[in-house]
Amino acid sequence: MCGIIGYIGEDDAVSFLIEGLRKLEYRGYDSCGVVVEDANGNTELYKTKGKIAHLEDILANNIENIKGNIGLGHTRWATHGKPSKENAHPHFDCEKKIFVVHNGIIENFNYLKRDLTKKGHKFHSDTDTEIIAHLIEEFYEGDLLSAVLKSLELVAGTFGLGIIHKDEPDKIIVARRGSPLILGVGKNEMVASSDVAAILKLTDRVIYMEDNQVAVLKKDDYKIYSLTRERVRKKPEKVEWKLTDTDKNGFPHYMLKEIYEQPETILNAMRGRILKEEGTIKLGGLESVIDKLKKMKRLIIVSCGTSYHAGLIARYMFEKLTDVNVEVEYASEFRYRNINISENTVVLAISQSGETADTIAALKEAQRKGALTIGLVNVVGSTIARLTTAGVYNHAGPEIGVASTKLFTSQVLILLMIATLLGRFKKLSMNDGLNIINALENLPSQIESILKQSDKIRDIAKKYHKFPSFLYMGRLFNFPTALEGALKLKEVSYIHAEGYPAGEMKHGPIALISPNCPVMAICPKDSMFEKMVGNIKEIEARNGKIIAVTTEENGILKEISDEIITIPETIEMLYPILSVIPLQLFAYYCALYNGCEIDKPRNLAKSVTVE
Ligand code: M6R
Repeated sequence: MCGIIGYIGEDDAVSFLIEGLRKLEYRGYDSCGVVVEDANGNTELYKTKGKIAHLEDILANNIENIKGNIGLGHTRWATHGKPSKENAHPHFDCEKKIFVVHNGIIENFNYLKRDLTKKGHKFHSDTDTEIIAHLIEEFYEGDLLSAVLKSLELVAGTFGLGIIHKDEPDKIIVARRGSPLILGVGKNEMVASSDVAAILKLTDRVIYMEDNQVAVLKKDDYKIYSLTRERVRKKPEKVEWKLTDTDKNGFPHYMLKEIYEQPETILNAMRGRILKEEGTIKLGGLESVIDKLKKMKRLIIVSCGTSYHAGLIARYMFEKLTDVNVEVEYASEFRYRNINISENTVVLAISQSGETADTIAALKEAQRKGALTIGLVNVVGSTIARLTTAGVYNHAGPEIGVASTKLFTSQVLILLMIATLLGRFKKLSMNDGLNIINALENLPSQIESILKQSDKIRDIAKKYHKFPSFLYMGRLFNFPTALEGALKLKEVSYIHAEGYPAGEMKHGPIALISPNCPVMAICPKDSMFEKMVGNIKEIEARNGKIIAVTTEENGILKEISDEIITIPETIEMLYPILSVIPLQLFAYYCALYNGCEIDKPRNLAKSVTVE
């Protein structure tokens, strides 16, 4: 939520900032702004309600004013204060000398604001962020770093901060606690941002700042400090993502691009990790804890949204392949519960971004109670990746569309790989392992074959996109797929949708069935097929419209469904990966026909870095 960026160097700051903000826009897009400073401390500040494109229009009309090689930019997802020009960042102090961009929440801002107001400070916004500019002003005695450190001592909450001062136009100060912040080290230029994607244009050499660190960035130098001003030595590391990974590459939306990337992301998740001759899986990131994982009796999975749905599928996988009891918890609930962590309990966090505030808090709670924590994370160097003792990366490249697609399938695949690896130490035979591996290896081409049906799915969406409400249903492995399909439809096309285990329909939801509430039935030919057919017949008997996702082109489902989308056959545990793809495409095309902003759905942001 919210993206910040800062640039200092020899180039035109504003163009770099705008390009960076475009890459960060998925983090929030209700208002935005930039401030640029020249070597003499002259500043130009531009803010607006709305998206980066609007800011660009404003800047285009003022381009001759915007000179300078230092600047800050921000794209906002409102927490304190509604979206407006006044509440857009950068915020400033009374004398308009200090400018601040912020990602996070200052929890004690009301108290600090009252105090600063008493001291005569005048506020221009309703935000929590603005108090930081005034606090720094209050403490400033010619040394920006020391004023920042004194201010941060008083601040409770989370922050990724960028700060400049007119009187010290040779530096940007950045600080981190609980919100991501990455430094990019270029040649005679430095950048700081909430996300690597915004840095790649300048450099692939980055430093992931840790919590409670502050850095002073000059064009040819950076110094990192603790909040007590002790120097921290950190060398840049090379990022694996390329600039082109963050482009749409000819697709109209990131969501569609990412749906189409799935054959590749599935391959990338498997690459170098399959030991065919042993019928097992090798995950380097778990080797340091493998003895503990072998003894694990209880696995608690914590995650949110789509990552939570992947966790639900893992529960069925672990039950089938291992002797581990699995619980799957919303991280936002887990963090406040009082769960007993017994011996041999492991907590696994699943997160695309690695920055989800609730998942981080849940992990910290689990660590406090003595659990071994591991992660399944896409973003290398992210908070969750660093907080956990060990883990596995998805290697799926950046996911920029707010609706998670390629990460869901990558997570489900890797969770099956973890279950197979552990299962092979116990109840799983070499042949069982090999069967799984063979099925895994078929996935990329099977996904390709589903993507080829895109036009057909588009036609179905054209027919159904005006329906006000949908039910999604599946059983066992495909119950979480139903939840995920419904989530996709809700978030990008704003159509109400609910996911249910089909067996639950009779306990309430079937009352909703009418010709106006179609049912998406996920029904491959697996152990639950006959049961699902029974459930679908009950819908048919009540005049419900049925769209079936199935492996059977010409069987009973053809007779009782209004639409059939076919997927190839695989092992039961892998059906979620194949059956979710039509659901992703259906949601995408419904959103397209409904004229929705697909990559930036209303009220949402990609990384939920506040509670
Ligand atoms: O980055 P994470 O995987 O931790 O994010 C979790 C959820 O915020 C995320 O999956 C969200 O639900 C997506 N918008 C779903 O498409």
